[in-house]
Formats: sequence, structure tokens, C-alpha cells
Amino acid sequence: MARVAIVTGGTRGIGEAISVALRDMGMVVAANYVGSEERARAFTERTGIPAYRWNVADFDACQAAVAEIAERHGPVQVLVNNAGITRDATLLKMSFEMWKEVIDVNLGGCFNMSKAVFPGMKEGRWGRIVNIGSINGQAGQYGQVNYAAAKSGIHGFTKALAQEGARFGVTVNAVAPGYIDTDMVAAVPADVLEKIVARIPAGRLGRAEEIARGVAFLCAEDAGFITGSTLSINGGQHMY
Ligand code: CAA
Repeated sequence: MARVAIVTGGTRGIGEAISVALRDMGMVVAANYVGSEERARAFTERTGIPAYRWNVADFDACQAAVAEIAERHGPVQVLVNNAGITRDATLLKMSFEMWKEVIDVNLGGCFNMSKAVFPGMKEGRWGRIVNIGSINGQAGQYGQVNYAAAKSGIHGFTKALAQEGARFGVTVNAVAPGYIDTDMVAAVPADVLEKIVARIPAGRLGRAEEIARGVAFLCAEDAGFITGSTLSINGGQHMY
């Protein structure tokens, strides 16, 4: 039986590449999105992967969505917590809302989604959870106290849940991308981005597929002994 996977923020950017990589491994994938329905429809047309709309920051919506997906496709055995947003500003200019939104989506989403799938994984004695962290959660980043705190939190969350999941055959790992060629990075002011790219030893932005490769590796059948680890994929920008 094909494994059933949920990829949050799975219809574009890094998430789309992950959805496609897991599908290509033979999994049944459900891709989550919250924004544009039109873009999600285009994604489904391109990939044949169904897209489901809910907000990962909403605890009850996560419970309902996981129940619906399990009903339709079977028990969810793979979860990739990829949904993430930025609200960049220095602390002096950051509002409480900018702080809270990023914490609620990026870190709260990991809790809400893991909470929804973990009982089923425990029951089935098999599971793979991969959380998308960030180089900026490892190293910090000027203008991102919210994002760096949330991503850093994801790395702690991963190590704690890995300890709880191990006895049930549930692995929990993180992938920490560097600067990847996506809409999120394209939103960084051009002059700032230029300076950042100059500091990447590989001399270029990463590609979404290069992150998906790492996620697929951690979701494989024979990756069962890898848990609590962080795979950094950043072109050599930060070695942690
Ligand atoms: N280190 C030190 N000083 C810095 C700096 C840095 N990295 N970046 C900016 N500054 C300085 C500027 O030189 C400027 O100094 P002066 O006033 O002396 O000229 C000052 O900070 C600007 O401060 P402001 O408060 O006026 O900042 P701003 O409103 O112009 O914007 C910012 C600041 C929003 C942080 C902007 O610089 C920015 O967007 N930076 C990029 C942040 C970033 O990398 N985000 C990553 C997004 S992608 C992502 O998050 C994905 C992932 O996981 C990797």
C-alpha cells in the first residue's frame, strides 16, 4: 500500500518540489495551501496532486483536514511541515502582529499538524515527520527575530518529538534550507540579496528540488534509524 503524505504549503516553491518528490517515490500526496485557489488549481493540473485548503495556524482546521484526508486516502504516515511565512523588519519596526503571525504559522503549524497525525502514526507503528527549518534559525538573521525564533524553535521541536516518536517507529527530522530560488527569497530587496549571495560559497541560490531531495531521503523506508537530525542544505553558507 502506498504511504499517504501531507505537505503543508505544498503547492508552490520548496513545498511543490517536495510534493512532487514524494509522489515520485510512490506516495499518495495531499498538498496543503492557504492562499491562492487559482495557483493551487494550476498546481494540481501540473502535477495531478490534490490540493487542500486550510490554515496550519488553526488547530481545529488541522484536526479536520487530517481526518478528511485520512478518510479519503488512508491513514497519514508522512508529514512535511513546510508552510512558512516571513514578515521581515528590525525589532524596532516589528509590530506584535508581525511577530505573532510568523510564530503561529511557522512554529504553531508544526505543533498543530504533528498533533493531528501523531496518534495515527503511533497506532500504525510507522511514521516520518520532516520539519523545514532554516539557516536563519541556525545562525540568526538581521531583520528576522520572529522568523529566526520560529525556525530555531522548529529545530528544538524536532529533537524533542524525535525522542517521543522513536519507540513507535516514528522518525522526526529537520531540513534546514539556505537561500533558495523561491518567491520568499525574491521578496528580499535586491541589494540585500546580492550581498547574501556573495557569501554563499556555492556562488548561487539553491533550487527547490535540492531541498526536496533531502526531504525524500529522510522519508524513505530505509531511513528509520535517522531521527532527531538536521540536514543543512545551504551551498556551504553556514556549517552547523
Ligand atoms: N547586518 C548589519 N546591519 C545591517 C544588516 C546586516 N545583515 N542588514 C541591514 N543592516 C543595516 C543597514 O545597513 C542600515 O544601516 P544604516 O541605517 O546605518 O544605513 C540599517 O540596517 C537599516 O535598518 P532599517 O531599520 O532602516 O531597516 P530597513 O527597514 O531598511 O530594512 C530589513 C531592514 C527588513 C531587515 C531588510 O534589510 C531586509 O529585508 N533584509 C533581508 C532579511 C532576510 O535575509 N530575510 C530572509 C528572507 S528569505 C528567508 O527567510 C528564507 C530562509 O529561510 C533563508
